[in-house]
Amino acid sequence: MAPRKLAAGNWKMNGTLAALAEIDRLLADQPAPGCDVLVCPPATLIHALTARASGRIAVGGQDCHANASGAHTGDISAAQLLDAGASHVILGHSERRADHGETDAQVRAKAEAAHKAGLVAVICVGETEAQRDAGQTLDLIASQLAGSIPEGATAANTVIAYEPVWAIGTGRTPTTDQIAEVYALMRDRLSARFADGAEMALLYGGSVKPGNAAEIFSIAHVNGALVGGASLKASDFGPIVAAL
Ligand code: G3H
Repeated sequence: MAPRKLAAGNWKMNGTLAALAEIDRLLADQPAPGCDVLVCPPATLIHALTARASGRIAVGGQDCHANASGAHTGDISAAQLLDAGASHVILGHSERRADHGETDAQVRAKAEAAHKAGLVAVICVGETEAQRDAGQTLDLIASQLAGSIPEGATAANTVIAYEPVWAIGTGRTPTTDQIAEVYALMRDRLSARFADGAEMALLYGGSVKPGNAAEIFSIAHVNGALVGGASLKASDFGPIVAAL
């Protein structure tokens, strides 16, 4: 079975209740999208967004703790995300890896917690510009995949997002050949390691816009996008959803 197509929006640390009007616009603009749609708002909005979306789009968190509960001030468990209405959680985003020093082992532990709670883990990997310039991209991605994805991953509980760090929020994107090279490697490694690795959805993230989405989605093994800035407005995210 081919991987399901997924258009995912990561609102990062943007948005208050008023921003949910964009979801109304998105649902009006895309009454019958040809793909799954996921929006990951700040945790403060998960419950309200779930009610607003009334099952028409999936809702996700942007991180979770590896433990189920306990003395971890400021953190959120996977079960709490589920309780608030989330079905997915983004893990190992490069901003978490850079700002909070998250390692592959920590991302893997968080993914295990997400799976145990019943959430789909959207696990992010991606190279910095220095790593690309040094010719380390493929080795780095292979290493991040090996270290960040737990053994219990399946096509049903895991989505992989390739996000070149240097393409995030910069307006720059890799060439189609550069993207294709990474996806061929990812599909190969996932298929070799997991029984249904060929069916695991692979997203691209990094300056996806209405103007470049169709070209990116035409690349082999790209099953969707993890969109940051352009997911904040229905007028940008809608055309990206439509391009998938
Ligand atoms: O999670 C989303 C990515 O970091 C991409 O962000 O679309 O603003 O470049 P961007």
